[in-house]
Amino acid sequence: MPALVNVNGTIVPPGEARVSVFDRGFLYGDSVYEVVRTYGLAPFELAPHLRRLAASAARIELALPWEAARMAAEVERTLEASRGIDPPDPEAAPWNVGERVARVVVTRGSGDLGLDPDLAADPTVVIFALPLRAPSLRAYREGVAVWPVGRAGGLQRGGDPAAKTGEHLFQVLAVKEARIHGAQEALLLDGAGNVTEGASSNLFAVRAGEVVTPPLAAGILEGVTRGLVLELCRELGVTVREEPIPLGGLAGAAEAFLTSTAREILPVARVGGKDVGDGRPGELTLRLHAAFRRRADELAKKRRS
Ligand code: PDD
Repeated sequence: MPALVNVNGTIVPPGEARVSVFDRGFLYGDSVYEVVRTYGLAPFELAPHLRRLAASAARIELALPWEAARMAAEVERTLEASRGIDPPDPEAAPWNVGERVARVVVTRGSGDLGLDPDLAADPTVVIFALPLRAPSLRAYREGVAVWPVGRAGGLQRGGDPAAKTGEHLFQVLAVKEARIHGAQEALLLDGAGNVTEGASSNLFAVRAGEVVTPPLAAGILEGVTRGLVLELCRELGVTVREEPIPLGGLAGAAEAFLTSTAREILPVARVGGKDVGDGRPGELTLRLHAAFRRRADELAKKRRS
C-alpha cells in the first residue's frame, strides 16, 4: 500500500483515496500513465517521463489538466510525503534498497455512461509512491528467462504501442503465459514473427559486437531507459542498429537484455526455453549496465550531498 495518495492535488491516506466507479479509466482503460523511479530518493529522468505523459495524452486526445511544472511539483510532493520505512527486501540489489517508484495516472474522468469521450467532465489525476519492486541481485547475475507471445488468450495486441495508456489486457494475458513457462517477462511478437518489445520493457540484442534494437516504427513504446542506452552506446563507441529482430535471430544472438525504469538493463539468459549465447549475462550487457549504474549513482550522490 502506498503511504499516501495524491488525488487531483490533494494528498490523503490510501484508505481515503477515492475515484468514482464511473471513472473512464476504471470502465474503459481510458487513461495514460507514467512510472518514475528514484535514486537517492530523487526522481530519475522526471522531465522525459512527463514529456512522454503529455505525448501519450495527445495521442489519445486527452487534455492534461496540469502543465509539466505542476505535474513535476506534485510528483515531488507526493514522493516527499510518502517517505517512510519500507520493509527491507532481502533479495533487492543493493543500489535499489530504500528507493521508491511513483505512478502518475491521468484518466479522462467520469460522466454519463457511454463510450463518447465528450461525456467526460474533468480528467482525474492520481499519483502515488510505493517501495520500488525491481529485479533481484540474482536476476542481474544470472539473467532472466523471457517467453515469446504472439497471441495471448486468443487476442492480438491492440491499441497504440507508442502511447502509454491504461489499457493492458493483452500484456496481462501475455505475462500470464510467460509465467506459466517460468519466464520473467513476455516478449511481444508482431504478425511477421518479429519481436517488438517486452510486456513492460524494451528489448535489445547483441550481434557481432553491435547492439540491435527494434525501431520505433516496429510498434513499441519509446522507453526512457531505451533512450539512455542508445546514448550510453554512443558514449562507449558501440554501434547501434535500430532494425527488426526476428524471433529466430534473437535466439541466435550473442547477448540480449531488457530495459525499463525498474529493471535498468537486465540480462536475458533464455528465450523460449533456449539459451541466449552461453546462457549467462553477456559482456557488453554488463558493460552497459555498469555505465548506466555510474550515471544513476551520480544522481543519487548529488541528491544526498
Ligand atoms: N513500463 N515498453 C512498454 C510496453 C512499457 O510498458 C515500458 C515501461 C517500457 C520501458 O519504458 P521505460 O524505460 O520508460 O520505463 C517499454 C513501465 C515501467 C510500467 O508499465 O511499469
